[in-house]
Amino acid sequence: ADSPRMADLTALAARHGLHVVEDSAVALGAEVDGRPAGRHGVAGVYSFFPAKPAGGIGDGGMIVTDDDGLATTARMLRNHGQPAGKRFYHELLGFNCRMDELTAGFLLRKLPHLDELLRRRRAIAEIYEEGLRPLAPALLPPAAGFAGRAVYTYVVRAQEREALRAHLAGEGIETAVYYPRPLHLQPAFAHLGHREGDFPVAERLSREALALPLHPDMAPGAAERVVTAVQRFYAAGR
Ligand SMILES: Cc1ncc(COP(=O)(O)O)c(C=O)c1O
Repeated sequence: ADSPRMADLTALAARHGLHVVEDSAVALGAEVDGRPAGRHGVAGVYSFFPAKPAGGIGDGGMIVTDDDGLATTARMLRNHGQPAGKRFYHELLGFNCRMDELTAGFLLRKLPHLDELLRRRRAIAEIYEEGLRPLAPALLPPAAGFAGRAVYTYVVRAQEREALRAHLAGEGIETAVYYPRPLHLQPAFAHLGHREGDFPVAERLSREALALPLHPDMAPGAAERVVTAVQRFYAAGR
């Protein structure tokens, strides 16, 4: 995604006496306006879900804050509402959000390499940008300018997405759709009474979005191969 306008958001929140909680789930290691993603508001969150740039070997996440009270509450909530050192005494109704030791140990070893892993992700995104930008408007790459960003997915908007997807699959190139069904058409929100056509932009994006392969351990030349395959698809008279 584009870099969020955090300065505008924090100024807006300050004007109205609101707190900013940053969903920086996929942005650990990124910077916005010279400040780490996740450090712009009262709290930020990071996800260690395996597919994320800072992914672990199991689910997990982290909240960062300078607010001691908030930190204490978050620590209690993660462990069924128990205060530190008071086992089986539940001051709050909490959850089990504990990270297991194996995941934590894995992440402690991985995090020192995060900058390099992010650098490799950006390098792949730059190869895509250079090769795919000329295909616009049939295929629209995401916003360019990857410096300071944690590139999680590389999602293009493709007319004839399903045909492109099948073409790439035929060349042994896996793709993914983030996300195929907008929220207002999910059964969980059926009670809100929305129907197809209510949010045309979200619906169009769900039809056009296609994530190309992006992983720091992609073999040399793999991103170029993806570019060539996409170019071939659009060169074939589409
Ligand atoms: C922006 C953002 N926030 C939150 C999440 C969810 O993270 P988790 O599965 O660790 O709860 C995701 C997952 O893709 C995400 O992209």
